[in-house]
Amino acid sequence: MTEHIITGRSNGVLGIRIDRTDKKNALTFAMYTALADALEAADRDAGVRAVTITGSGDSYTSGNDLQDFLKGLPEGESPAFRFIRVISELQKPIVAGVNGLAVGVGVTMLLHCDLVYAAASATFQIPFVNLGLVTEAASSLLLPRLAGHQRAAELLLLGERFDAATAQAIGLVNALCPPEALGALLAERAGALAAKPPASLRLIKSLMKRPAAGLAERMAEEAGLFGTQLRSAEAREAMTAFMERRKPDFSRFV
Ligand code: COA
Repeated sequence: MTEHIITGRSNGVLGIRIDRTDKKNALTFAMYTALADALEAADRDAGVRAVTITGSGDSYTSGNDLQDFLKGLPEGESPAFRFIRVISELQKPIVAGVNGLAVGVGVTMLLHCDLVYAAASATFQIPFVNLGLVTEAASSLLLPRLAGHQRAAELLLLGERFDAATAQAIGLVNALCPPEALGALLAERAGALAAKPPASLRLIKSLMKRPAAGLAERMAEEAGLFGTQLRSAEAREAMTAFMERRKPDFSRFV
């Protein structure tokens, strides 16, 4: 149980809000578990026709909690990888509302959502390379497919922050809106989905996901490399530097 994931039901829509504003909504193991549980329950519940995900305050999520990363991956399927698997396999449509900063899994999870809206002021970053890690959520497969190799390489190999207009230009985001209008847009779009015939929605989504063959294999491959990199000296240097609020120095690594 965690108080940092808030869920609510309204008119057939399950709303999920990431709410840990003092840490920019960084995701702990408990939060991943709560997210995965909520999504699985939504898929089982005939009363839920669509799901929304957004964040509180100025952030969508700053990604995996770096303190948790320093502890290493737990035995078995890690809560983070379970969340990614569950969101990638969800039968019901998911509408994401990126209200602010989205980092790491905060961006890669969007590749598994169906509609994505963002505040025009939102920012995005996929910083795995800066942390001495590798991509996850099959983003090494899905982002080049969405954006083309060069644009994906710019985002994945340089790991720099990019703006909402860029996210829209590469097709990651459907539309932008003023920050104060995001909640209403999210509710309206999810409400429109919730009014559609549920079996049609389910079938069309599953047909659209058919080219996703190979996704689970890519996730497994990424997860293996991710675990190895997480234990590496590169990752330790990156995360220790973040905690010590200094610039990491990768010059000694080969
Ligand atoms: N894990 C753990 N704590 C995090 C965090 C994360 N991913 N992101 C932010 N925080 C914490 C900070 O340590 C800080 O905590 P403190 O107030 O106890 O010192 C608090 O959230 C606010 O963050 P701060 O860095 O002061 O805010 P900022 O506006 O200057 O920068 C970010 C925001 C998100 C750009 C910056 O915090 C950051 O780069 N975070 C790491 C993101 C990351 O690498 N995520 C992992 C992706 S795989």
